[in-house]
Amino acid sequence: MAVVPIESLPASGPDRERECCRVLEEGNILVFAETPFAISPVDRAFLLERRQADAGYHKNIAYRPKSDRVTGVARQHPDDARRLREVLGRYSRTVVDFAAGLFTGYSRRWKVDYASFRPQEEASRKLSSHSRNDLLHVDAFPTRPTRGDRIFRIFTNVNPAAPRLWKTGETFPELAERFAVSSGLLERASKQTVGRSLLKAASAAGLPVRSRPPYDEFMLAFHNFLKENGEYQESARAERPVFPPDATWMVFTDMVTHAVLQGQFALEQTFIIGRETLTVPDRAPIAVLERLAGHAMA
Ligand SMILES: [Fe+2]
Repeated sequence: MAVVPIESLPASGPDRERECCRVLEEGNILVFAETPFAISPVDRAFLLERRQADAGYHKNIAYRPKSDRVTGVARQHPDDARRLREVLGRYSRTVVDFAAGLFTGYSRRWKVDYASFRPQEEASRKLSSHSRNDLLHVDAFPTRPTRGDRIFRIFTNVNPAAPRLWKTGETFPELAERFAVSSGLLERASKQTVGRSLLKAASAAGLPVRSRPPYDEFMLAFHNFLKENGEYQESARAERPVFPPDATWMVFTDMVTHAVLQGQFALEQTFIIGRETLTVPDRAPIAVLERLAGHAMA
């Protein structure tokens, strides 16, 4: 894993997009020392006044672009709620426009997922072990299976004074090689076919059940496995990237193991990138797992 400054890549032309995609898909973080899109001073000031009280249950404040709705926020004055929705909506549209210009290939088939705002100091958060951000992990969504498509995230540190500190470890292909088979997780995720067909039937009959493809079953189990594995957390080959105030960085978080150690006030937009629009599809977690398993995973 390397932190790659955008200035080190071609400044324009088709090579720029291809190189950006390659750097990201190979498991690196692409960083802009200065945020390359506008967030107005008024919006920034509003965000810096937010506090997330009673955040024990929710991890983050999320903005859902499709329904133009904010979730995960403590009870607040209706005027504040409306403004927060407007500010996050503006941020989300701005990032999506910017990313669509840089990643024309991805944007043809991506799904714009949630945006989030993280107003709490990460160094002192109290969360359950599966929700903890300070343990190395790859991302997986418990309620939104990707079926082999990729989780791509763009972060901005809106804190005017303090950096955001991450820890990063090995990339998915290395970890899968080490743990996917030996942990038994790959076999377990592949074997649940019977359970899944029952679930599908139940779901078709209108019962409130959810079935996950083997890929998503594995990724979710792997996320928990890494966080629960004290020996791995202790021994991981970790680096500590520092993202200064106003930096923006982007990363496939299903690829790069990451943890947040310190920092307050980050914005983030998630995209689900279609498998068939990747530049280096062989490195994608699903390709790695299908090679190891010897069969399709989604
Ligand atoms: Fe994460």
